[in-house]
Amino acid sequence: MNRLTNKRILLGVTGGIAAYKSADLTRRLQDEGADVRVVMTHSAQEFITPLTMQALSGHPVHLDLLDTETESVMGHIELARWADIILVAPATADFIARYASGHGDDLLTAVCLAAECTMAVAPAMNQAMWAKAATQANVDALRNMGVHTFDPDEGLQACGETGAGRLMDVPDIVTRVSDLFDQGTLAGRHVVITAGPTREAIDPVRFISNHSSGKQGYALAEAALEAGARVTLVSGPTHIPAPERATLVPVESAQDMLDAVMQCAPGADIFIGVAAVADYRPESSADQKLKKQASEGLALSLVQNPDILKTVAGLTENRPFSVGFAAETENLVDYATKKLETKNLDMIIANNVADTSIGFNSDDNETIIITRDGQEPLSKSSKEVVSRKIIATIAERMMQGSEQVA
Ligand code: CTP
Repeated sequence: MNRLTNKRILLGVTGGIAAYKSADLTRRLQDEGADVRVVMTHSAQEFITPLTMQALSGHPVHLDLLDTETESVMGHIELARWADIILVAPATADFIARYASGHGDDLLTAVCLAAECTMAVAPAMNQAMWAKAATQANVDALRNMGVHTFDPDEGLQACGETGAGRLMDVPDIVTRVSDLFDQGTLAGRHVVITAGPTREAIDPVRFISNHSSGKQGYALAEAALEAGARVTLVSGPTHIPAPERATLVPVESAQDMLDAVMQCAPGADIFIGVAAVADYRPESSADQKLKKQASEGLALSLVQNPDILKTVAGLTENRPFSVGFAAETENLVDYATKKLETKNLDMIIANNVADTSIGFNSDDNETIIITRDGQEPLSKSSKEVVSRKIIATIAERMMQGSEQVA
């Protein structure tokens, strides 16, 4: 299970011999799913090149407070806001002193000063420097500021001396960083969500579609991300931005949506079908724009679209926990329960779309969660709140399922 999925880590590298270990640290953090960006001090660049860190992190390395180029890509305030955690490893005695006394005259101290996220430092220095009262007072000051310190290990040092001062082992730093995050109920899980409407082409400029805004599916994607999951969002056309940390797969028609879903849902942990998939599509789509005919009417011949949710829930291998939505205007529970059974679902969320203040295009939703062993009504609230509740219930059910299997 990846312990740092979706986590944004700003790695500060300062100028000590242990700086070479920050290359390995970058890789190990990425292996756990983290997105890593790097800030290096000037003296760090004497020990390891920005090019190495850029190649490993996959992003330009930030070096100067007043560098117009990198500031225009992501300025120091943006960097501070971007990070979920700032980890300075290795942190030299000088950096610790300057950070503890509130300096902001280089990029790294300025970012640390501007940051409101979780902060951690992993000191590394000669054992005598680490033992000095001044260093210990500075480290204590950082601890009092709420900065986590990953204290150095004991052992033989690059300078030939033995004692406490070696950078904590890289795997231990990764574990300590992971421990700082609330892992969330869906940590390390892969969730695939369909959202929005589909468009079924009549000709190159016309289509059949519906009023789905995508809001419910996107809110569920956000809630799943908050719960620590990796999210793939297969979405029909909408006017709202997708959550930044989700992998967005844009599609148009139901057939496109099915194709995209079958690429990622088998083997995923959870599949949630929220999309308002058009049940029918024109039998054929004209190659050229249809011209108005002299006769009065035009008959469109429609054929049924594949049922995406039923296809996924019917998988005999690699079947994810499958959740559907039932938008109904009457007989809500009855119809939804039938869909739960005929589509072989683990859970269905029934929502009443007869009332226009909830459902389809609105910001609120009022739903009932139905499973094979009962119903749980959720009172009317925003799609965000409803989504968090649905995700929490899914996580709870999955845990029960895995306990039964075990
Ligand atoms: N769904 C799907 N593929 C379809 C139709 C529906 O994946 N071709 C999914 C929806 O995303 C939703 C659930 O099935 O999660 C129920 O959708 P709904 O439109 O309410 O049900 P239908 O099966 O289309 O039945 P009906 O339109 O007759 O109510």
